[in-house]
Amino acid sequence: MVHAIRGDFPSTRMRRLRKHDWSRRLVREHELAVSDLIWPLFLIDGPANESIPSMPGVERLTIESAARAAVAAAELGIPAIAIFPVTPQKLKSEDAAEALNPDNLVCRAVRQIKREVGDAVGVICDVALDPYSSHGQDGLVENGYVVNDATVEVLQQQAVVQAMAGCDVIAPSDMMDGRIGAVRQALDAAGFVDVQVMSYAAKYASAFYGPFRDAVGSAGNLGVGDKKTYQQDPAASDEALHEVALDLREGADSVMVKPGMPYLDIIRRIKDAFAVPTFAYQVSGEYAMLHAAAQNGWLDLPEVRRESLLAFKRAGATGILTYFAKVMAEELVAHP
Ligand code: PBG
Repeated sequence: MVHAIRGDFPSTRMRRLRKHDWSRRLVREHELAVSDLIWPLFLIDGPANESIPSMPGVERLTIESAARAAVAAAELGIPAIAIFPVTPQKLKSEDAAEALNPDNLVCRAVRQIKREVGDAVGVICDVALDPYSSHGQDGLVENGYVVNDATVEVLQQQAVVQAMAGCDVIAPSDMMDGRIGAVRQALDAAGFVDVQVMSYAAKYASAFYGPFRDAVGSAGNLGVGDKKTYQQDPAASDEALHEVALDLREGADSVMVKPGMPYLDIIRRIKDAFAVPTFAYQVSGEYAMLHAAAQNGWLDLPEVRRESLLAFKRAGATGILTYFAKVMAEELVAHP
């Protein structure tokens, strides 16, 4: 740690460098850029987009609209989108079989998006069973417990099905043990050696996912259940480093910390310890919180939006998944 203490008051005045805008700009260390942003999109199979009450400004998109959003992302310079399907209840089952259907909503959307934008925008697909399972859990359930190894076998197939559709980045968000190595092996065996794996490596059992579960319609399926037997305990932090170490050894190309703002310490520890691409997910509850306060006139949305995203960069994040991606990119293009 370097402490560059130059002197005492009055010769040292910390405010001198802060006095002018040009000077503040000159000495700042961190910058938010469009190329830091990943835009999560929700997909529906219906005829029209649907609003999501707990996520103002976010909609569940038809495949056509999602493809248009991808084109907008390309035009703005947003490097990647992450897509999350809303599965009709009638297609959900105990074994989440729809996850393996090569014609499911995600696969059809990936094909359409890739047809429209080609390589201009990366497409990230979540690997986990919760959008497809009748119990809302990320894995297979036996005797009330989410079983690890049998789940991993399904996740391997889900990853390959998504890669076949043209997905660029497979993002396992399920927190099963050993799934990164297993998914890497399955992708390689199927010939997808260049498809990336972005691991949700340090994903906490968080109440901040509430609006997401409304958005994808899994809240009702999960009911009073929780994900504490596989997602991390919010009171633990060393464990996050262990998770990241394992995932990197198993072949993860990049890792993610989730949620975002309440876990900035975890981002910093991971970035310092491993120096690998480390993404932050500013999750649905964080987005909802900022919007709700702004709607009450209690916070200035453009200001807190930019500050909250910049904080991730300062904490060491390589990039940020955020529902603000499009509006933030538009603002950054207008006022860099
Ligand atoms: C699915 C998944 C979740 C999120 C991303 N992928 C929800 C969960 O784990 O219950 C949450 C994202 C958000 O809240 O914005 N495994």
